[in-house]
Amino acid sequence: MKVIAINGSPRKNWNTAQLLQSAIKGAQSMGAETELISLYDLRYTGCISCFACKRKDVKELCRCYLKDELTPVLEKVLQSDVLLLGSPIYLGDVTGMMRSFLERLAFCTLSYDDYTMRIFDGCIHSAFFFTMNGKESIYEQVLRQNTDLLKRLGGSSEYYVAENTLQFNDYSRYRAAAFDEEGKKKYHEQQFPKDLAAAFEIGARLCRKMNG
Ligand SMILES: Cc1cc2nc3c(=O)[nH]c(=O)nc-3n(C[C@H](O)[C@H](O)[C@H](O)COP(=O)(O)O)c2cc1C
Repeated sequence: MKVIAINGSPRKNWNTAQLLQSAIKGAQSMGAETELISLYDLRYTGCISCFACKRKDVKELCRCYLKDELTPVLEKVLQSDVLLLGSPIYLGDVTGMMRSFLERLAFCTLSYDDYTMRIFDGCIHSAFFFTMNGKESIYEQVLRQNTDLLKRLGGSSEYYVAENTLQFNDYSRYRAAAFDEEGKKKYHEQQFPKDLAAAFEIGARLCRKMNG
């Protein structure tokens, strides 16, 4: 069983990355082969509207024909059994790198003959991990919309939110008076271990589901 985790945060050891690492450990506890890919290591763009994936003369559907460093990642994703995505919320949506990744993945799995038709014939269970400084309730629609893009992968799609995250180790070094450092640290100490445990469980559960 192959599990691919995609980190849409530029930070490799912070909130989003830690949730993904925990979900990966959960998947590994079920015997899965895992890989973590950091989008910020790659040079790529979003969809460039070449429409090669919609041409009648291409041999393969469900393939993004744009060639850059995301191309092999998309191929791996479409061959995986479980997909774990992680993104911080930046200015009310996923990060730009995650959005570009989603454009490429979701557009090549969308049929222009019939929007309701599924052209990807595999089954990939997925979970989206979102992290944010604010509260989940403000962003529910955005979270749902991004998660729903993964429905075309034929498996279950769900999301998990870690809210009120810590942004810095030492708030006193930043012009960030709007935040209550003590309150945030206390919340982090109490809540983040629970978030990590939930992520572990999601990684393990999706693999159990895949095993049938
Ligand atoms: C450019 C930028 C924009 C952000 N915009 C939002 C936002 O709109 N809403 C929010 O709740 N948090 C926002 N944040 C906070 C991050 O979502 C939050 O700190 C997140 O947990 C960071 O993830 P990381 O620790 O994995 O890097 C923003 C952070 C940055 C750097």
